[in-house]
Formats: sequence, structure tokens, C-alpha cells
Amino acid sequence: MTVESARPQSPATPGTSVLREPPLAQGAWPVLGHGPRLVRDPLAFMSALRDHGDVVRLRLGPKTVYAVTTPELTGALALDPGFTIAGPLWESLEGLLGKEGVATANGPRHRRQRRTIQPAFRLDAIPGYGPVMEEEAHALTERWRPGETIDCTSESFRVAVRIAARCLLRGDFMDERAERLSTDLATVFRGMYRRMVIPLGPLYRLPFPANREFNRALADLHLLVDEIVAERRASGQRPDDLLTALLEAKDDNGDPIGEQEIHDQVVAILTPGSETVASTVMWLLQVLAEHPEHAEKVRTEVESVTGGRPVGFEHVRSLRHTNNVVVEAMRLRPAVWILTRRAVTDTALGGYRIPAGADIVYSPYAIQRDPRSYDRHLDFDPDRWLPERSGTVPKYAMSPFSVGNRKCPSDHFSMTQLSLITAAVSAKYRFEPADGSDDTTRVGITLRPHNLLLRARPW
Ligand code: HEM
Repeated sequence: MTVESARPQSPATPGTSVLREPPLAQGAWPVLGHGPRLVRDPLAFMSALRDHGDVVRLRLGPKTVYAVTTPELTGALALDPGFTIAGPLWESLEGLLGKEGVATANGPRHRRQRRTIQPAFRLDAIPGYGPVMEEEAHALTERWRPGETIDCTSESFRVAVRIAARCLLRGDFMDERAERLSTDLATVFRGMYRRMVIPLGPLYRLPFPANREFNRALADLHLLVDEIVAERRASGQRPDDLLTALLEAKDDNGDPIGEQEIHDQVVAILTPGSETVASTVMWLLQVLAEHPEHAEKVRTEVESVTGGRPVGFEHVRSLRHTNNVVVEAMRLRPAVWILTRRAVTDTALGGYRIPAGADIVYSPYAIQRDPRSYDRHLDFDPDRWLPERSGTVPKYAMSPFSVGNRKCPSDHFSMTQLSLITAAVSAKYRFEPADGSDDTTRVGITLRPHNLLLRARPW
């Protein structure tokens, strides 16, 4: 793809220096613009944009969208509160998951909600989750039988949902409920992505089997959340957890927050928390199968740190190579591969004019695979994160949890469980692909393998 135009424009915003209009990416179709290319191969499309400008214009049907392609400018975008969470991605999420949760709120409501949830994710809260994370990581390996085919999609969802739900909502989370939640979320995310990229509106209301399955899963997800909230209330208990914080939260007037907000908040925490971690666990299993030399190195490291005992929360900090394997897997296969913002007012980014109301997109996938930021950018090389080498990585070239006021609250929580899971499974098993496995990338709301099937072999 090349750039069609880079016409400099006169200043659009009083008081700013001369701002240019971003170049239009070439290859737009009549009427549909860049939409077909974006739909056909979104990862290649987003990655190619870097060759044509730091900020480029895209046409999606009648709409102009701005894409940001450098680490520096994605950092500037994420850190500037003048860009808010809005746009088609968020609107479709709100319609399905609720309007009052932290992931879609802006302004004072968002700040208040972050204050409510933040303590549950603080660094000093994480050791409290250690026992549950350990139990779930080891339970995973105990369920697997040597030589048996593992369906990595359902197993990864299972461990992610169980850890999020048991740690943050302290529910009794019987298997049945965790399974329901994982199945519902997998169906809901698949359907949401389809509705976003192919917005056929009323057609999704017709009683086709796929629509019925989607509606059933969505209704069950909301029902489950109602059950969780009702059960906690009926128990009269107030454990020190996120659910208690949500149930006791006050609005800006000091009044209790409404039922809808409590419900939407639980949904807004469980949904991103499950899909992202599950996708990353799938990639970690795929990496261990594809790179036996790193699987072996992780196993040796775990053994030397634990002295042969079951790996626990207290070991995570010492597992340097294991942590680097997790980071490198997240670099090449970031669960969150696209992010969007909307400009509140006429503004500027990197010397380019961005009009009020404009939607801006960027891709952590493209940023984290940029050859300008990484030597041998497509190689899986966990050692690039060793202190003596990681200093050359440009700022914001590796921000899988984003930065700024929308930064994922769960970075420590997620990294701890991902390292612990990787260590626990590698200590016991090596992995090889099973018949029918398809580890090609499936692009949805997150990135994950299409259908990863592995055999676990004891060392
Ligand atoms: C937001 C990534 C796990 C809860 C985000 C954002 C990213 C992200 C990039 C920022 C979105 C934006 O800038 O627009 C990830 C990754 C994860 C992960 C890569 C794991 C591998 C989790 C978990 C939870 C969680 C486990 C909760 C249990 C949230 C919430 C937000 C968020 C509530 C919205 C924050 C806000 O808008 O203020 N996540 N996340 N995430 N994440 Fe995560």
C-alpha cells in the first residue's frame, strides 16, 4: 500500500502551529473505501500502514478514520485525556454488555469507577490471590492425562474465568458456573466481533441458529451476573473483595450506585478479564509446543527455583526466563490487537490535524512487530527482555496493557497468573500438536489460535 496524498493544510486550530492533514492510505475501493482490505486481512492491513505515515487517513465506507502507527504517537494518544473511549467498537460493546461499566464510561463517572476497582488490583493485593492462582494452575495440569488431546480453547477459558471469578468475586464458583461463564463468553465474543465487522443490523434479529445461540449466551451471561450479585447479598457476607467494593460504592453525591451500574461493572470486569487472559494462555501453550528449547529452559528454571516442589506464587518473581517467555508471547500475539479513541475537540497529533469527533485506531500488534523497534522483529526471542538488551526498545513499543487513564487495571494480576500457569504446566509437561490442531491466528475481539489441540507428554 502506498500513500495517495499528503497535502499540507493551513492551521485548523487557532493557537497551534501549521498542522497537516494526514495522508490518505492508498488502495481505497470506491464507496467501501479501505473496509474490504481491513476485513480481509486486518493484521496485515494495520501493519502495512506504518510504511505510509505516522498518522494516516482511512476511509471506511463514508467515514474517515485516523490510524496512528508509531510507538511515540500511540503513547501520546493514550496519555491524552482529550481522546476518549468511544467509536463503533465501544458502541457495539455498550449495546450488548451495558453502558454503565468502567470499560465504556468516560469523565467523572470513569474516574469514580476506577477509584472503586483499583484497590482490588493494586500490587499489594496480588499476594492475597496467590493461593487461588496456584490451585487453578495446578488443577489444570492434574486434569490433563499424559498423551491425551487437550482442547486448549476451552481449557484456557476455564482457567481464566475461574481465576478472575474466584479471586475478584470470591464466589463459590462451582465448576458448573465457571463452565457456563466460559461457554457464554466464548459465544458472545464471537458474535460481537461478527456484528462489529459486518454490521447487518436487523439481520441479527432473525431467528437463525447462530443468532439464537448468541442471544441465549448473552442472556445467560447477564443472568449469571444477577445470580452472583443476588447470592452475595443473600449471604450477608462482606469479604474484602471487588464485589463488596462494587456493592458498597457510592456515586459523586454519596448515594449508593444503582443496580444497573453494579451489574454492568461486574460484566465489564469479567468479560475483558476472561477473553484476554484465555487468549494469552492459548498462545503460551502454542509457544511451548512450537519452541521446545524454551519449554525445556522454563522447566529447568522452575525446577532450580522451586527445588522440585510445586511452583507457587512466591516463586514467580524469580522465574526470569518464564516471565520473559510470557512477555515475548504477548509481544508477538497481543490479545488486544486494536484500540480506538475519539477526539473530543479539534486537536493535533504528531503535527497532523485531527478534527473533533474523529475516530482514531491503532494496533498494538503492528506496533509490537515493527522492525524499526525490534531486531529480528518476527523471531520469538524471550532473551530480548533481559535487562542488558531491553533498553533498546523504544518507549510505548511494548504496552500490551496500554498506558494512561484507560490502562488495564489488571496488569500485575494478569502477569502473575500467566507466569504461574506457564511455570506449572511446563514443570509437568512438554507439548506437541495433536491431529486436527490449527494454530493459525483467528482475528476476533482478541487474537487467538483458531483451534489449538495439543498433546501433553510428561518430561
Ligand atoms: C482495559 C489489556 C487482562 C480488566 C484494558 C486495556 C488493555 C487491556 C490494552 C486498555 C484498553 C484501552 O486502552 O482502550 C489486557 C490484557 C490482559 C488483560 C493484554 C491479559 C493478558 C484483564 C483482566 C481484567 C481486565 C484479567 C480483570 C479481571 C480490564 C478493565 C479495563 C481493561 C476493567 C478497562 C479499564 C478502563 O477503561 O479504565 N485491558 N487486559 N483486563 N482491562 Fe484488561
